[in-house]
Amino acid sequence: MGSSIMVANMKGGVGKSTLTCYLADYFRQYNRKRSLSLIDTDVQGSCFEMLGIDGRFEQLRHLPIGDRYDAVNVVTVDTLVRNHLSSANDLLLIDTSAGKPDSICQIAMMCHCLLVPVSINWGDIRPTRDFIEEIQDRKDSSRTITPHIIVVPNRIPHQQRDYSRLKDALSELDVVIAPGLSDLSIVRHQTEKFSGIEATKGTRFHDEIIHFGNFINEYILGGKLDAIYADTNVIELRR
Ligand SMILES: Nc1ncnc2c1ncn2[C@@H]1O[C@H](COP(=O)(O)OP(=O)(O)OP(=O)(O)O)[C@@H](O)[C@H]1O
Ligand SMILES: [Mg+2]
Repeated sequence: MGSSIMVANMKGGVGKSTLTCYLADYFRQYNRKRSLSLIDTDVQGSCFEMLGIDGRFEQLRHLPIGDRYDAVNVVTVDTLVRNHLSSANDLLLIDTSAGKPDSICQIAMMCHCLLVPVSINWGDIRPTRDFIEEIQDRKDSSRTITPHIIVVPNRIPHQQRDYSRLKDALSELDVVIAPGLSDLSIVRHQTEKFSGIEATKGTRFHDEIIHFGNFINEYILGGKLDAIYADTNVIELRR
């Protein structure tokens, strides 16, 4: 089966579009066997603009889904997610807007994985927890193990590696905390023209984003998390 990964958080400015672009570039460069498609559902279309500029991403679409109901795009994205589950090497990445439109939560429920970038500031952590609780409730009521919820600590200051506040805030929730990403000024300046992973060479962020891509490749696309959750379910059933 192929995989759909949605990058989402109702909190704005946490790095959703940035993460989507770098992950897309990771798969383009380091994991070419995947057939990569991208959808930007944010009305602002920042990911579409950043990646669209040099034409390296052929399968890139802008299908805005805002707070105002956009039935045609919801159906189109819905169909694309379903279709991407048919072939093993297919990978669909979806960038979303801030806020919590019901349509986005519905689409999230069909995805294999939800990446939730967040800084380690309390002002970002609190709304992030609310957002994850909403998805968790939906997972619990439909009794599914997907989407796997992966929290991605982002914009971590140079000397700060202590995620304890984030871990404590999320301790009641069924999430995986991914390897974090540093705050890097080169990244901050890529909002208009995205120059890819290459431009970050020689920085800590460069190694981190590749490490992060490898983590997604192994645990999500390689099925390791599916296997862990399937085992956990068996253990719970036996109890
Ligand atoms: N690791 C990072 N290091 C430095 N700057 C970063 C990093 N990640 C994101 N940023 C910067 O933070 C700002 C917000 O990032 P981005 O636009 O990706 O967030 P977003 O969650 O998509 O925002 P929105 O909710 O408006 O869609 C941008 O200026 C971006 O360049
Ligand atoms: Mg964005």
